[in-house]
Amino acid sequence: MSVALAPSLLSADFSRLGDAARACEDGGADWIHFDVMDGHFVPNLTVGPIVLRALRKATRVPFDVHLMIEEPLSTLDQYLDAGAARVAIHVEAEPHLHRFAQHVRGRGVNPGVAINPGTALASLDEALLFVDFVLVMTVDPGWGGQAFIEGSLDRVGRLSEMIRRAGSRATIAVDGGVGPDNIAPLVRAGARHFVAGASVFSDGDVPGSIRRLREAAGSAGTLRA
Ligand code: DX5
Ligand code: ZN
Repeated sequence: MSVALAPSLLSADFSRLGDAARACEDGGADWIHFDVMDGHFVPNLTVGPIVLRALRKATRVPFDVHLMIEEPLSTLDQYLDAGAARVAIHVEAEPHLHRFAQHVRGRGVNPGVAINPGTALASLDEALLFVDFVLVMTVDPGWGGQAFIEGSLDRVGRLSEMIRRAGSRATIAVDGGVGPDNIAPLVRAGARHFVAGASVFSDGDVPGSIRRLREAAGSAGTLRA
């Protein structure tokens, strides 16, 4: 199994999102991470299903949708209809994770659950058996370009062990402050999917940044499946 990279458009130029999506495609991104914020679950406000639908026409790269919103089930179908390939909602925002996962999978989309840095991993215990991935937030969500919270490495390791013990097939995705300096230890701790905003978009060379991330991840050594 190899790592998958999902550049986050949150750090792209919002007046040229189509170009940013195409640059991700040129760089060989596995997914494009699409951050939805509602101004309530997090203080910031970003984009919604109309923008997602428009961007689907700009690239063949599948979209990884991260809903940082309250009451996510009330608008979930809009993101599924707009062409999401993967969708994560927050454990802090939705008690009915089984209903969510069943519904999303029924639409041929991969369901995931996201968890904030201050939320106990134990709150995922049961959900591990019915989601396809866990999106571990390694910053408090709301903005791109924040610093990786150091204790998160240990947290990914503990989650990896929980997943193994539960007999779950869920994979671990990491979101927040990921860059070439910390991706290899995260791979060794058990993460396989990486969201990266600032480290992909800040120097103007999106394909080169994706390549550097992939090389740094590869330096983690042989990956266990
Ligand atoms: C944070 C978002 C992230 C963000 C990551 O609230 O969920 O996806 O774009 O950006 P970086 O990699 O810059 O921390
Ligand atoms: Zn995100």
